[in-house]
Amino acid sequence: MEQANMRLVLASKNQKKLAEMNDILSHLGIQVCSEAEVGVDVEVEETGTTFEENSLLKARAVMEASGLPAIADDSGLCVDALSGAPGVWSARYGGPDLDDAGRYRLLLENMRGQSPRTAKFVSVITCCFPNGDVLTARGECPGTIAFAPMGEGGFGYDPVFFIPALKKTFAQLTPEEKNAVSHRGKALERFKQKLEEYLAGK
Ligand code: IMP
Repeated sequence: MEQANMRLVLASKNQKKLAEMNDILSHLGIQVCSEAEVGVDVEVEETGTTFEENSLLKARAVMEASGLPAIADDSGLCVDALSGAPGVWSARYGGPDLDDAGRYRLLLENMRGQSPRTAKFVSVITCCFPNGDVLTARGECPGTIAFAPMGEGGFGYDPVFFIPALKKTFAQLTPEEKNAVSHRGKALERFKQKLEEYLAGK
């Protein structure tokens, strides 16, 4: 793809997501910047029941507030033995008093004695342009829930999300290794293809 030289505002305060997106998109001349860098601070109530709905809510709100193309990732962990929970509620699992470690400890607690331990991470990327155009891409990464946290890298549920083929949790991978297999990495690869087609058609 040709260098796009485009700036997208990320609808999130999560610095780790910002870094992961820039790692993947910067090769194309796409710079992802934070809301703070363009002087907006948008609180979006995630009222949707799907990753697609929440991703669109976030990207549209930041595009409208900034007047610039905005990109959002709505993501989460879906555990088979828990009927897909925590799913779209991954960031809010266990209520507002828990931090990342509290949430994955609660997950391990809820998984005690459960089988299978299969799960998947899902990411839906949405990009909203000021002219009303919208691009969406979804990525999934299958894995299992570990019996105990392992590794120091990443964020969120990374220490308990185990990739059998690599015999490591997400938190034990380098950023490059995680991006190569992750839900967000896959969604962003698809997004890049869609953006290329979109820009070619302009
Ligand atoms: P969101 O920011 O509303 O999309 O919430 C996503 C939540 O899902 C995060 O707060 C994490 O708890 C979890 N999550 C999403 N992607 C990842 C990941 O790559 N690693 C670990 N946890 C993740």
